[in-house]
Formats: sequence, structure tokens, C-alpha cells
Amino acid sequence: MRVEYGWRGWAGAIALAGFALLAANQLRATTIHKFQNGTEKTTAQASKPVPQYVGADTCKMCHADVFKNFEENPHYKTLQLKAKDKQGCEGCHGPGSLHVSSGGQTPVPYDFPKMTPQAISERCMDCHQSRHENEHFLTSVHFESGIGCTNCHSVHHSTDMTTLLVKAQPQLCYTCHRAIQPQFQMPFHHRVNEGMVRCSDCHNPHGSSGDTALEPGGENKQLRTAAAGNAICLQCHVDKAGPFVFEHEPVVTDGCLDCHVPHGGPNPHMLKVANVNQLCLQCHTTSSFSGAPGTPSFHNQNSQFQACTLCHTQIHGSNFSPYFFQ
Ligand code: HEC
Ligand code: HEC
Ligand code: HEC
Ligand code: HEC
Ligand code: HEC
Ligand code: HEC
Ligand code: HEC
Ligand code: HEC
Ligand code: HEC
Ligand code: HEC
Repeated sequence: MRVEYGWRGWAGAIALAGFALLAANQLRATTIHKFQNGTEKTTAQASKPVPQYVGADTCKMCHADVFKNFEENPHYKTLQLKAKDKQGCEGCHGPGSLHVSSGGQTPVPYDFPKMTPQAISERCMDCHQSRHENEHFLTSVHFESGIGCTNCHSVHHSTDMTTLLVKAQPQLCYTCHRAIQPQFQMPFHHRVNEGMVRCSDCHNPHGSSGDTALEPGGENKQLRTAAAGNAICLQCHVDKAGPFVFEHEPVVTDGCLDCHVPHGGPNPHMLKVANVNQLCLQCHTTSSFSGAPGTPSFHNQNSQFQACTLCHTQIHGSNFSPYFFQ
């Protein structure tokens, strides 16, 4: 969006007058070049004038429209910070004196509209690196794939002044992750489109540490670390967390994704296969290498046998029965 500067003539003049002193200081940095033929030439480029901080009120003079909704912006409170380099507009755009004294012709040091999302992100990280939520961003799959803060956040044009998101979830994520969208339209799915669960409940779009991977040494898929260091799923499905007197080994060792898909699928309970018995028999056959015992001889080895979970109801672990009957 472009700003209208119909009135910039006289607003600029005021600013110029106000910054005459600064400008004079900058000119003093001008150096004189002696050329070989003995002539002298004054050039301002030789030593770059150093821009100074001028304060947000000065920016307001010419960018009243940007300033208007800035008061609701979470960054407004940076105006209370002591350090000038962290305050308001200049906390992000850098010191603005040269920009102001040139009536907007010299760009601000951080002229974001002309920077890549990744370069912008590095600037944002000057302040946000220390936040737990953002700490892994610079090593995240997103950052490494060319995605930066401003692909998802808009400082000046968001309609949500708490999150500054470009768009609400999950639509924000679907703009790029089209292949994921159909998974949440399957008959059995986490109710993300319905607003009950959010993508960011399971993923941290700012990246996560290696130890959130579901398998040791596996990719972390930007999954969140649950408070107890357990798989993210247990954050909500606490009843599956145990510890149980009788654990069902795959739940503990490999985790939920041995049997479930995380987003959604065609099978009840979001199981990986259509038939529960098929699932169990993937491991519980004497020919499998899972270390699981085969079923006793009185079990009909047919996958059309009564559903295994009809009797082995506590399939995630039990405190009473080694066979997960209750
Ligand atoms: C004297 C008026 C004036 C003041 C004061 C002023 N600006 Fe500007 N600013 C302009 C003008 C004019 C432009 C447009 C320049 C152009 O389009 O080439 C501009 C452009 C910008 C842009 C780039 C916009 C784009 O679309 O590329 C940014 C960022 C910016 N100003 C930030 C600031 C900040 C931060 C301050 C306070 C430190 C500030 N400005 C103070 C007049 C001003
Ligand atoms: C939190 C960092 C941040 C702060 C604080 C900030 N800006 Fe920006 N500004 C940006 C980013 C990032 C952009 C680039 C637009 C984008 O990609 O979202 C931008 C763009 C602009 C533009 C270009 C026009 C537009 O609307 O996008 C102007 C002008 C501007 N800022 C002025 C200001 C002024 C004036 C202030 C203080 C009231 C300010 N900015 C505070 C980050 C910031
Ligand atoms: C000068 C330091 C500074 C810079 C640079 C900065 N921020 Fe912030 N940011 C803050 C502070 C302080 C808050 C308010 C935190 C709070 O309310 O607890 C904030 C809040 C936010 C929030 C609101 C989230 C929330 O609820 O806390 C978002 C989103 C955000 N910043 C994104 C950005 C982006 C994107 C950039 C780069 C364009 C950026 N910030 C640059 C200091 C900064
Ligand atoms: C892929 C999209 C995406 C990218 C890239 C991204 N964010 Fe976010 N960010 C989000 C979403 C989604 C939320 C959650 C908002 C909510 O709570 O609804 C969020 C929340 C935040 C918050 C508030 C979270 C908190 O509790 O502290 C801050 C601050 C923030 N982002 C800053 C940044 C900064 C800085 C960058 C770049 C270094 C960045 N974000 C990059 C999507 C993104
Ligand atoms: C501007 C485009 C864009 C947006 C918006 C976006 N992503 Fe991404 N995301 C990517 C790209 C590019 C990659 C890396 C390539 C890939 O795996 O698709 C990626 C990777 C990921 C990965 C890691 C996949 C892996 O294999 O490790 C996850 C998880 C993810 N995004 C979740 C989200 C979530 C959740 C949101 C919304 C909060 C979101 N993304 C928003 C572009 C985006
Ligand atoms: C209930 C938790 C949960 C929710 C909600 C969730 N995800 Fe995932 N997502 C996962 C898990 C777990 C994986 C890892 C799957 C694996 O490694 O096989 C994953 C994998 C991914 C991947 C990598 C896909 C691949 O094939 O490697 C992307 C991209 C992704 N999710 C995006 C999203 C988006 C976008 C949303 C919201 C629309 C979302 N996720 C919601 C748990 C979740
Ligand atoms: C943010 C909370 C949350 C997280 C994290 C979460 N779930 Fe869920 N899950 C739910 C809710 C809520 C439901 C119930 C959905 C409904 O009623 O539509 C559900 C339903 C399910 C169901 C289907 C239950 C049924 O009866 O059909 C399975 C299976 C499941 N989740 C597995 C997982 C797995 C695996 C993970 C980790 C990848 C996970 N969940 C992470 C909240 C969560
Ligand atoms: C060994 C395979 C297996 C593993 C591993 C597994 N599940 Fe399940 N899960 C099942 C089966 C089978 C059902 C369906 C039970 C039925 O038919 O009554 C189920 C059902 C569910 C349900 C819905 C019914 C209920 O009991 O609430 C949820 C929620 C669920 N699982 C979550 C999880 C979570 C979370 C994990 C990881 C901690 C996990 N599952 C690991 C096999 C497994
Ligand atoms: C990913 C492989 C895997 C899947 C799928 C699986 N199991 Fe298991 N199961 C095991 C392993 C490994 C053990 C532990 C064997 C041991 O302790 O020696 C086990 C133990 C058991 C036990 C206890 C056996 C004993 O002697 O203590 C029962 C009962 C059982 N599983 C039933 C089921 C049922 C019913 C299903 C389907 C809903 C199922 N399992 C799915 C791997 C699996
Ligand atoms: C009608 C109830 C019933 C059904 C249905 C059932 N089981 Fe069993 N299962 C049992 C009983 C009873 C035992 C033996 C308990 C004992 O030895 O005390 C058992 C034992 C087991 C054991 C332990 C074997 C061992 O040597 O330790 C496994 C594994 C097992 N069943 C898997 C399955 C699988 C897989 C299915 C589905 C194909 C299934 N069960 C269906 C009742 C059932």
C-alpha cells in the first residue's frame, strides 16, 4: 500500500527545519578529496553520514496513516523502552534522521518492503530470538525453505492485533500446504477446520528442537515439545500417557504413529489401516520381526475374526491385565 504525500511538501519542510542541525552535523562528516592534478573536490559519499535516532513522533508527521493503527500494535509498547534502538518505528526500521532530512528520498536503514522475508526475519530476531516460542526459527525448515516472519505476520496490515497474522489458521497454512488440506476433510480427522484444534497446537511454525522428533534421530517436522517431554499427542490425550503397570510396547517405544495418522484419514479412530485386526496382525504373527508374540492358537488368525479390541479393550495399556482386557 502506498502513502499519499499530497501534503508532504510542508510537512517535509517542518521536518527539514527541525533537522537542519542534524543535517549540519552530517555535512561536517564530509571529506575533501585531493586529486592528483591538485584540484580539490568535496564529496559526501566518501564517508557515509551516520544516521541518528529521531523518535516515532517524527515518523508520525509524514506517515500518519501507518501510525494510526500502530497504537493498537503490540510493538507500541516498545516506545516505553529506554534504549533508543529498540523503540517504536526505529526499533525495526533503524535510525531515521537521513531519511527524514532528505524528505523520504534516502531510505531508512531497514527498508523492509525491498527486503526478502528471510532478511527481514533476521532483523525481527534481534528482539525475538530470546523468546522460547521463536528460539529455533533460524534453523527451522521454514527459514531454510525461504519462509520468513512476514510470510505469516504483517506488522502494519493485520486485522488481528494480538497475533499480527496475515490470515487466521488453518487458511494461513493451507495457502502453502495444499496437500495437507484434503487430510482434514477425510471422514475421520482432527477438527482443525472446525476450529477445535489448531495446526499450531501440534506444530510450532517457528521451528522446534531436534528432540521433538517422534523417532530418535528422525525429522522433527516442526512438532512442539510437550511439557513433560513426551510425544505431543499426550498433551491432550492424557489418558494415554500412563505409566501403566502393563504397557503395550509400541505405544511406549515408537509412539502413536505406529497405529494412527496424525491429521486424518478414511479409517475409524484415524487408524492407519481399515481393519483393526489387520493392524494387530501386522505385528502379532509369528512371521513378523516385531518381537510381538503371535496370537494364541484358539485365535482364528483370520483378519475377519471378531475385532481384537472387543476383548483387548485397553489397547494403549492397562493397570490390571497383561492382555489389556480391562
Ligand atoms: C519528511 C517526511 C517523512 C518523515 C518524517 C518520514 N518519512 Fe518515511 N517516507 C517519506 C516519503 C516521502 C517516502 C516515500 C519515498 C518513496 O516512495 O520513494 C517514505 C518512505 C518510507 C518507507 C518505505 C516505504 C516503501 O513503500 O518502500 C519507510 C519504511 C519509511 N518511510 C519509514 C519511516 C520511518 C521509520 C520514519 C521515522 C524515522 C519516517 N519514515 C519518517 C517521508 C517521510
Ligand atoms: C515490528 C517491526 C516494525 C515496526 C515497529 C514498524 N514497522 Fe514499518 N514495516 C515493517 C515491515 C516488516 C514492513 C514491510 C511490510 C510487510 O512486509 O509487512 C514495514 C513497512 C513500512 C512502510 C511501508 C508501507 C506499508 O504500509 O507497508 C512504512 C511507511 C513503514 N513501515 C513505516 C513505519 C512507521 C512510521 C512505524 C512507526 C509507527 C513503523 N513502520 C513501525 C516493520 C515494522
Ligand atoms: C525492538 C524489538 C522488536 C523487534 C525488532 C521486533 N519485535 Fe515483535 N515484539 C516486540 C515486543 C516488545 C513485543 C510485545 C511483546 C509482549 O506484548 O509481551 C512484540 C510482539 C510481537 C508479536 C505479537 C505476539 C505476541 O502476542 O507477543 C508479533 C507477532 C511480533 N512481535 C512479530 C514481529 C515481527 C514479524 C518483527 C519483524 C518485522 C518483529 N516482531 C520485530 C519487540 C520487537
Ligand atoms: C509459517 C508461519 C509463521 C512464520 C514464518 C512466523 N510465524 Fe510467528 N506465529 C505464527 C502463528 C500461526 C502464530 C500463533 C498465533 C496464535 O496464537 O494464534 C504465531 C505467533 C507468534 C508470536 C506470539 C507467540 C508467543 O506466544 O510468543 C510471536 C512473537 C511471533 N509469532 C513472532 C514471529 C517472528 C519474529 C517470526 C520470524 C522470526 C515469525 N513469527 C514467523 C506463524 C508464523
Ligand atoms: C508462505 C508459505 C508457507 C506458509 C504460509 C506455511 N508454510 Fe509450512 N512450509 C512451507 C515450506 C516451503 C516448507 C518446506 C517444504 C515442505 O516441506 O513443504 C514448509 C514446511 C513445513 C513443515 C515441516 C515439514 C517437514 O517435512 O519437516 C510443517 C510441519 C509446516 N510447514 C507447517 C506449517 C503450519 C502449521 C503453517 C501455518 C501456521 C505453515 N506451515 C505455513 C511453506 C509455508
Ligand atoms: C494433532 C496434531 C497435529 C495437527 C493438529 C496438525 N499436525 Fe501436521 N503433523 C503432525 C504430526 C505428528 C506429523 C508427523 C507425521 C510423520 O512424521 O509421519 C505432521 C506432519 C506434518 C507435515 C509434514 C508432512 C510430511 O508428509 O512429512 C506438514 C506439512 C504438516 N504436518 C502441516 C500441518 C498443517 C498445515 C496443519 C493444520 C492445517 C497441521 N499439520 C495440523 C501432527 C499434527
Ligand atoms: C490440541 C489437542 C490435541 C492434540 C495435541 C492431539 N489431539 Fe487427538 N484429538 C483431540 C480432540 C479434541 C479429539 C476429538 C475430536 C472430535 O471429537 O472430533 C481428538 C481425537 C483423536 C483421535 C480419534 C478418536 C476417535 O474416537 O475417533 C485419535 C486417534 C487421536 N486424536 C490421536 C491423536 C494423535 C496420534 C495425536 C498426536 C499426533 C493427537 N491426537 C494430538 C485433540 C488433540
Ligand atoms: C498398537 C497400536 C496403537 C498405538 C501405538 C496407539 N493406538 Fe490409539 N488406538 C488404537 C486402536 C486399535 C484404537 C481403536 C480402539 C477401539 O477400536 O476400541 C485406538 C483408539 C484411540 C483413540 C480413540 C479411542 C479412545 O480410546 O480414546 C484415541 C484418542 C487414541 N487411540 C489415541 C492414541 C494416542 C494419543 C496414542 C499415542 C500415545 C495412541 N493412540 C497409540 C491403537 C493404537
Ligand atoms: C507395531 C507392532 C504392534 C502392533 C500394531 C500391535 N502390537 Fe500388540 N504388542 C507388540 C509388542 C512388541 C508387544 C510386547 C511383546 C512382549 O512384551 O514380549 C505387544 C504386546 C501385546 C499383548 C500382550 C502380550 C503379552 O504376552 O503380554 C497383547 C494382548 C497385544 N499386544 C495385543 C494387540 C492388539 C489387540 C493389537 C491391535 C489392536 C496390537 N497388539 C497391535 C507389538 C504390536
Ligand atoms: C474373544 C476374545 C478375544 C478376541 C476377539 C481376541 N483375543 Fe487375543 N486373547 C484372548 C484371550 C482370552 C487370550 C489369552 C489370555 C491368557 O492366556 O490368559 C488372548 C491372548 C492374546 C495374545 C497374547 C499371546 C501370548 O502368547 O502372550 C495376543 C498377542 C493376542 N491375544 C492378540 C489378539 C489379536 C491380534 C486379536 C485379533 C486378531 C485378538 N487377540 C482377538 C481373547 C481374545
